[in-house]
Amino acid sequence: MFDMLPKSVQIVEVGPRDGLQNEKTSLSAQDKITFINQLSQVGFKRIEAGSFVSPKWVPQMASSDEVMRAIERVKDVRYSALTPNMKGLELAMQANVQEVAVFGAASQSFSQKNINCSIEESLERFLPVVEHAKNHNIPVRGYVSCVLGCPYEGDIAVADVKNVSKALLDMGCYEISLGDTIGVGTPIKTKALIETCLEIIPSDQLAVHFHDTYGQALANILTALQLGVHIVDSSVAGLGGCPYAKGASGNVASEDVVYMLHNMGIDTGIDLSKLVAVGKNISSLLKRPNGSKVGVAL
Ligand code: HMG
Ligand code: MG
Repeated sequence: MFDMLPKSVQIVEVGPRDGLQNEKTSLSAQDKITFINQLSQVGFKRIEAGSFVSPKWVPQMASSDEVMRAIERVKDVRYSALTPNMKGLELAMQANVQEVAVFGAASQSFSQKNINCSIEESLERFLPVVEHAKNHNIPVRGYVSCVLGCPYEGDIAVADVKNVSKALLDMGCYEISLGDTIGVGTPIKTKALIETCLEIIPSDQLAVHFHDTYGQALANILTALQLGVHIVDSSVAGLGGCPYAKGASGNVASEDVVYMLHNMGIDTGIDLSKLVAVGKNISSLLKRPNGSKVGVAL
């Protein structure tokens, strides 16, 4: 039953972006820098460290420029940021960001609420971003939101996810991250989604990004791993949510993913005890309960 599981999994730590963008307490730039520097010592190879979006839309990310310039860049760790348009990309490049991400959706309503344009308009907007970044050797990740359900439209057809993913791949994104933005997916739906997306996306270019609103994330991750996925997004202490998806809670907690993987003999390169310590620090700084069950148990 578990014969397809990978030997190692790459975890993309998205806490400093997806986590902090939706926390009620806005951290100072210095606290974010300290937080990211601590995460850099844990063993992650990829950290999503900020977001170059409109500060009117997401005030929590307004200090991304200062943060990206001041963090200690650890060798072999790639620090990335969201860039929804050319303006975001230019700012990210000035701050020496090593990888950027465009973020689309499989739902028209969510696309409108999140980035103020239709899916088609978003793809037109992303094309020059991806081309310009690639011309400067900056890899671009492509997110697809609402892959297993939308806060405005409900069920989403797998074919719609596949179409947007294909468009992002064709324009030059090196990786697609499938976002269950509101955490409504369950393993059977996840299986259908991953099987369909693997028809067009090679498994080493496919990541999964589960929010844990309904407690389904670990089951869904395990399902994806059994189908050949080996790149997983998560946030330390289960921070955050999406500001344009009401009720969406944080990402699956990195500690919980790492605990599951290590105890199944799957390598991540992460030091779990150091990670737990970072999760405890950030939870107390934000004055919120630790969203990682493993973080609480250890
Ligand atoms: P707009 O209002 O349509 O854009 O917003 P605009 O081009 O008309 O610009 C309006 C103002 O924003 C102007 O300033 C621009 O200069 C400024 P003003 O003249 O009014 O003073 N502006 C910018 N400022 C800084 N950086 C920029 C930028 N672009 C324009 N890059 C826009 C369109 C995309 C900018 C806006 O809708 C936006 O910022 N949206 C961001 C939403 C967001 O960050 N959502 C959360 C991330 S997505 C997510 O969490 C899901 C994910 O985790 C996966 C999953 O879970 O599913 C990735
Ligand atoms: Mg997210």
